[in-house]
Amino acid sequence: MTTIALIGFMGSGKTTIGQRLARSMEIPFVDTDDEIVNRVGMSIPEIFDHFGEQYFRGVESEILKSLSKKECVVATGGGIIKLDTNRQMLRSNDFLTVWLDLTFDTVMKRIANDESRPLWNQDVEKRMSLFNSRQALYHDSSHFSVNVDGQPVEELIEEIKRYIYSYTMFGTKRQSDKNR
Ligand code: S3P
Repeated sequence: MTTIALIGFMGSGKTTIGQRLARSMEIPFVDTDDEIVNRVGMSIPEIFDHFGEQYFRGVESEILKSLSKKECVVATGGGIIKLDTNRQMLRSNDFLTVWLDLTFDTVMKRIANDESRPLWNQDVEKRMSLFNSRQALYHDSSHFSVNVDGQPVEELIEEIKRYIYSYTMFGTKRQSDKNR
């Protein structure tokens, strides 16, 4: 059994796409942010305020591990790729990991005024440098990427499903580098 994980920067649509992908595949959907909030009993900004990012990352990593080899679609938090152990899990055979790639401009269009995400709540230069510093980590953590800029959700879901089925049938897990 392989868990389908969606990774990508804040605002890439992991939750929306994940929910609809899970529905269309008739398997459960899990959002790691929701799991963290339920387990700790606080909102994400409160967890960052009270316990700090490192604590948040620890819980996030435990939750990811608990979802390994489960028949479900998992929407992860944008920073899940920060821990080496998470990157290894996501790239292992226990997960089939899809990177929802998008440009910084699209992120800004989608969540410019969002104040609910602690690591996004800073000036534009810092936001951009956070975005740039994570691109290689998303690449290294994923088996497949789709560009979500301006693409209708239904088309994205079909593209992801085609990939998942080709993996299930032929075991071709790693998208060739020329397409990435
Ligand atoms: C984070 C992204 C958030 C959430 C937390 C940290 C990040 O999830 O996990 O605020 O470090 O990028 P979304 O990507 O769902 O916004």
